[in-house]
Amino acid sequence: MRSSNAQVYIIGCFAAIGGLLFGYDIGVISGVLTIRDFITTFGDQDDVQRQTLRDETTGSIVGILQAGCFIGALCAGQAADRLSRKYSIVVFSIIFTIGAILQGAAVHLAMLLVGRFIAGLAVGALSMLVPVYQSELASKEVRGRLISLQQFAITIGIAVSFWINFGTSKMQGSISWRLPLFLQLVPGIILGVGILFFPFSPRWLVSQNRDDEAIIVLARIRSDGDTNNPQVQEEYGEIKAEIETEKEVSVNSYAKLLQPPIRRRLVLGVLIQIFQQLTGINAVMYYAPKIFKQAGLSDNSVSLLATGITGVVNVCATIPAILWIDTWGRRPTMIYGAAVMALSMLTMGGLMGSHGRKVSESSNSVTVLLDTQAVKYTIIVFVYMFVAAFAMSWGCIGWIYPAEIFPMNMRSKGTSITTAANWLFNLIIAFCVPVLITKITYGVYLIFGIFCVIMATCVFLFYPETKQKTLEEMDMVFGDKRKRRKIKHGFNAERDNNSEDEPNTTVQRKKYIYRGPRLDTKKVYFSMLTSIPVFPEVTKQDLGKDMLF
Ligand code: BGC
Repeated sequence: MRSSNAQVYIIGCFAAIGGLLFGYDIGVISGVLTIRDFITTFGDQDDVQRQTLRDETTGSIVGILQAGCFIGALCAGQAADRLSRKYSIVVFSIIFTIGAILQGAAVHLAMLLVGRFIAGLAVGALSMLVPVYQSELASKEVRGRLISLQQFAITIGIAVSFWINFGTSKMQGSISWRLPLFLQLVPGIILGVGILFFPFSPRWLVSQNRDDEAIIVLARIRSDGDTNNPQVQEEYGEIKAEIETEKEVSVNSYAKLLQPPIRRRLVLGVLIQIFQQLTGINAVMYYAPKIFKQAGLSDNSVSLLATGITGVVNVCATIPAILWIDTWGRRPTMIYGAAVMALSMLTMGGLMGSHGRKVSESSNSVTVLLDTQAVKYTIIVFVYMFVAAFAMSWGCIGWIYPAEIFPMNMRSKGTSITTAANWLFNLIIAFCVPVLITKITYGVYLIFGIFCVIMATCVFLFYPETKQKTLEEMDMVFGDKRKRRKIKHGFNAERDNNSEDEPNTTVQRKKYIYRGPRLDTKKVYFSMLTSIPVFPEVTKQDLGKDMLF
């Protein structure tokens, strides 16, 4: 199974380019907004004189991306089921490319806003498609790690955008902002073209009755192409049984998401994404210079450097999660992560409150003067501690958990709603935090700290552990008895009607065995690439009497 995981990692890393676009697009704008030529191009005379865009303009340039992300995430659910996960990634990469061109080539504000909205549609959609695609290709042992790669790519995207901004801001003329905006085209095109050479999700293939291709994909990613490998057979059997059962209980409409037993998973998935934003991570990501300034780093370049370090901490602290998240487990990671974040936020707020003096610079800028250097540095250390705790825990799990809890037929629909919830709260935080920082200063950190305590408590009380479970075992994890049953696998599997751990069920137990290899592998690869099924001549009889289609 080792070489097979290598294949899965390659596919997972490649798909994670979607995360790179996500991170880069949200990160690049903060720097671009401050570039002189950008202000001249998109601001009015007052803005040019003040050398800063007015709040409404800044707000719409930043917020329109998240609004696009929200809508894109919602649309991606249908696309992922109809077009496949893979082709949806292609389509949204093309949409992203169009958005990036419009942004880089913008000659007036409307064009820039349209470009950011279109790019947002794609970023939102990809932020849902990539984890779903990764989760459906991964084995249960490395699923958390594989999805964490998307988070890793997000953090790299944010950090790279910061340093690119830093480099190009010294340039003269419109190239100083057009270049960073155009540069996103490169990963966008690489993702859209490159993903064509990777397989379809085997689970999606089975859901489309393209079992022959599914088994070849499973064999390719799990056992060097050996379709007879027992583990491949077992996984195929589980997927097939799960999907057939879902068809019998017709779990496939948005309305079903709101009914038991799936409703509970929807609520947990939506909450996890909302909580991820309520940690306050984007208060730090979007407004770190402002926070550092408030904490007493009044020199602009020092506060920018401190912000740059935040990006580096974010990237580095994601690495332990990639390595160990499948060992740590989802629950402890979320609980300890939230506890450390709560400690950091409450300490920051407490120190600012008890050792700070508010000084109003203008109606929309307030500085907190701290009485000692020690307090100042302690606050900065806690900002980094907060970011590290987020990166190791909720940063990854916010994407992992929703992508793994839904049954196959509801996975893309469910994940599109949970992802949209993330973007909605991302937007809300982006708008509220600057106002709150000015109005209640240290109170903002106390509020986020309290949210972190609530999150840890909710996870402790309501969230089941999902590590090391196959996607098909999630019904058991969530105690969904209606669909629970035991499936026997393997070539010589017998029907087992006497198993004690099986609850009564109305669904007839079936076993699904694929008796390969009987397929022309070249034809199947062609089919995987083109989506044209190539084996209509294969019948049930050809495939063996136990194969139930
Ligand atoms: C969050 C983003 C955040 C980023 C920071 C992601 O998981 O969804 O909103 O900006 O992490 O690394």
